[in-house]
Amino acid sequence: MEFRVGIVGCGVVGTGTTALLLKNSEVIKEKTGVELIISKVADKDWEKPREFYVPEELRTTDYREVLENSDIVVELVGGKDFAKRLILEAIEKGKHVVTANKHLLAEEGEEIFRRAKEKGVMIGFEASVGGGIPIIKAIREGLVGNRIENIYGILNGTTNYILTKMLEEDMSFELALDMAKKLGYAEADPSLDIDGWDSAHKISLLAFVGFGKFFPFEEVHVEGIRNIDLLDVELGKDLGYTLKLLAIAKRINSEVELRVHPTFIPSDNPLAKVSDVYNAILVEGDFVGKTMFYGRGAGSKPTASAVVSDIVDIATKGQNWLWESKEKLKVNKNFYSRYYLRFDVPDRPGVLAKIAHVLASYNISIASVLQKEKVCKLAGREGQPIVPLVILTHKAYERDMQRAVEDIQKLPVVEGKATLIRVEEEAY
Ligand SMILES: NC(=O)c1ccc[n+]([C@@H]2O[C@H](COP(=O)([O-])OP(=O)(O)OC[C@H]3O[C@@H](n4cnc5c(N)ncnc54)[C@H](OP(=O)(O)O)[C@@H]3O)[C@@H](O)[C@H]2O)c1
Repeated sequence: MEFRVGIVGCGVVGTGTTALLLKNSEVIKEKTGVELIISKVADKDWEKPREFYVPEELRTTDYREVLENSDIVVELVGGKDFAKRLILEAIEKGKHVVTANKHLLAEEGEEIFRRAKEKGVMIGFEASVGGGIPIIKAIREGLVGNRIENIYGILNGTTNYILTKMLEEDMSFELALDMAKKLGYAEADPSLDIDGWDSAHKISLLAFVGFGKFFPFEEVHVEGIRNIDLLDVELGKDLGYTLKLLAIAKRINSEVELRVHPTFIPSDNPLAKVSDVYNAILVEGDFVGKTMFYGRGAGSKPTASAVVSDIVDIATKGQNWLWESKEKLKVNKNFYSRYYLRFDVPDRPGVLAKIAHVLASYNISIASVLQKEKVCKLAGREGQPIVPLVILTHKAYERDMQRAVEDIQKLPVVEGKATLIRVEEEAY
């Protein structure tokens, strides 16, 4: 059977996808019996250099040529406005759609998936999370027999690279970000990555696949790594923790926690060992237990591999997938977690008692206080009047913790802004 595949957007992923389809079409035919034929590839500019030569006869600058001549339309433009118009237009014309656009799907996917269901066409979005890692398929198919309990992900390569450099080479955040830019891992404007939005888009799509409900994107708690101080990365290391930008979708009865924030995880946890630009996703199902998926979360070839898996899926199965859970799940923003706190305080007796008193008034109990000499040494503040005080707490509610930290910051003994990092020990 023949399928005509049209691609809009021939940049990093579009070029990789075109190359894969042209190079491996025979292998795909052998494996699946399906012949994938590129109808047209649209891009605004055919003059700019590409890693792969796209034959002249496939090129167009008009996306409508792709729409008219394809059974499957592959959107690889990115961004929201044009991509949404293109996808909705393709759906209206009865075309199946494959996209890698996590930004669009996380924020406006509900409308797109619903429209696709009404029109009886499919939306493939494997490449939108974890690049080449087949995580959507793994949750939907491999783990279909399970009730998914938790998903923990290191979903952004740029931030993972920066945190790895900070941890392993004692680099400041700014220096590590500069390195990431030089190596092409970070965009000129890296805010989608470092402020946590890219990870948030991806975890909300994983929650959709795992829990069967599209949660409003505004309900995801998002914090990035922009304000991470090297001192806290080092103190955490000393305590046996590794700092990661963790994306979490956790089910607790009829509520789910959806959050992205810098998180201390025990250094012997497999997720702690995921370094540089690599991604990993740990999925916990009620029967399978914990499973972990690891690989390259971005790049032309790995992402193209995921795009083509969607194309083949659509061509071979032809059935829609939109699971809507009957459960009344809602987002809980008042999570229950352990915390690492750091305050700058004068080096004199009685300060810890004042802070402990505020924590106790919110029912927050202290698990340990880091030895002052060690902290001062790491911070290079030995013998100085203002020193860092590090406290690890037992589990507490987020709202109580936010209020307690607010009150503590008002104490005359506390200087500057406190540091609060959540500690996650259950992701094994
Ligand atoms: N890069 C990755 O590793 C990766 C990984 C996973 C997912 N993704 C997702 O994949 C999508 C594409 O990313 P990318 O990195 O390949 O982006 P990219 O390199 O910027 O490619 C997008 C291409 O689309 C072209 N374009 C823009 N508007 C167009 C229009 N109206 N008609 C035709 N072509 C148009 C762009 O041209 P101009 O440059 O001239 O504007 C550019 O060549 C995004 O949604 C991204 O989030 C990327």
